[in-house]
Amino acid sequence: MANYPRSEAILSRNARFIPGGVVSTNRAVDPPIVFEKAEGAWMWDVEGNKYLDYHAAFGPYVLGHGDASVNDAVRKVIDDKRSLFGSGTTELEGRLGEIVCGAVPFVDSIQVLNTGSEATYQALRLARAATGRSHIIKPQGGYHGWHNDVACNLMTPLEVVGKRRVAEEYPFLPISAGIPEEHSRLVHIVNFNDLESVEVMCQRYPIAALITEPILQNIGVVHPLPGYLEGLRRLADRYGFVLIFDEVKTGFRHALGGYSAISGVHPDLVVYGKAIANGYPIAVIAGKRELMDLFISPDASKRVLLAGTYNAHPVPTAAAIATIERLAEDDGAVYRHLEALGARMQVGLEEILRKDGTAAVVARQGSAFCLYFMDHLPVDWHDVAGNHDAALDGRLREMLLSHGVYFFQLPMKQCSLSAAHTEADVDATLLAVERSMAAILQPVAGSLS
Ligand SMILES: Cc1ncc(COP(=O)(O)O)c(C=O)c1O
Repeated sequence: MANYPRSEAILSRNARFIPGGVVSTNRAVDPPIVFEKAEGAWMWDVEGNKYLDYHAAFGPYVLGHGDASVNDAVRKVIDDKRSLFGSGTTELEGRLGEIVCGAVPFVDSIQVLNTGSEATYQALRLARAATGRSHIIKPQGGYHGWHNDVACNLMTPLEVVGKRRVAEEYPFLPISAGIPEEHSRLVHIVNFNDLESVEVMCQRYPIAALITEPILQNIGVVHPLPGYLEGLRRLADRYGFVLIFDEVKTGFRHALGGYSAISGVHPDLVVYGKAIANGYPIAVIAGKRELMDLFISPDASKRVLLAGTYNAHPVPTAAAIATIERLAEDDGAVYRHLEALGARMQVGLEEILRKDGTAAVVARQGSAFCLYFMDHLPVDWHDVAGNHDAALDGRLREMLLSHGVYFFQLPMKQCSLSAAHTEADVDATLLAVERSMAAILQPVAGSLS
């Protein structure tokens, strides 16, 4: 495997000042390649290698790195001296509200924050204020950020999932230390695609909200089964909880109104981030007026605080406006391009793996895809954790590096195409996969059988 001497030197130098040398510990991967530049579909590392990027920095780059129209909008904000004023409103934030509400017909208003985690945090708080209840439900395998409510029991190890007496044997399994154990009493973990478990929780606890990614895109691409999202909507109406779709990954990447628009199932609150601003840090909560107006309720006991020095900073706000305008152009030409590239990738991957005789499936939604080494499309986290050959996945990802293709170096991580990718890029990637698989599967010289 290749060496990355400059990257390793930078990492060890950084480790003097940053724990582990990497800011944001979920970015620490092996090999520890240090990138220094990206443009369109390509990234360059400090060793001088060039890669086709399918990581897209965990998803934001729907238009590709450094999209000219988005960067022009950002430059204009700076040239026009539209500083962060921190007092009153701005025309820009109003324009973002108008454009999001125009793109998502089932919402009346928005609030603007900086990150997906902040937005899911506020959405849950809003749901609790609206219902006067504290309990929430979240499916296993969904990621909604780093805060206490959603960082408990995220992707539970297999030896633990499925046990009825989990609470006694493993009282609390957060993905982070430092989360008070009390949270485990308020957060109830269910299986994705399992309506019955949601109903059981609703019968046991006064549920304020169910938060879910409509497609699980932090463990690859796990689709809702037909009727699942509709079933959640019905249960929300029956039991009076707030249905929150976390579209931080799916929103604006798959369609202007996110997966809610594609599925036709409308949540009470929806959260967007990532692709909404093509790499600039912004997140949006959107919903019906009666819920959103709790941010300004005259009744202080119902009013939800929303504050943040950098909320609706003009740079990411302008980037979001420009991104959505690009995505809306020519009746969604970008989405048509992404769908065509995604389909080409899927068909090509399936053909390669069929020829290899490897048990594998390709899960895909538009520009987002994931190759699972298992014999069926997964339906939930247990299925992925129990059946996917993560070791083979890891080897393929590592092997692709030497062919100039960057999939995030962790098994099961979803790949994302951007509008800057071309058919030729997809074909080059397919060739790289074919060669990598051939190298991985070739019989070891001298082996029997
Ligand atoms: C579905 C989902 N929700 C929320 C978040 C958190 O967003 P952020 O990292 O911007 O805080 C993420 C991040 O990966 C995500 O994928």
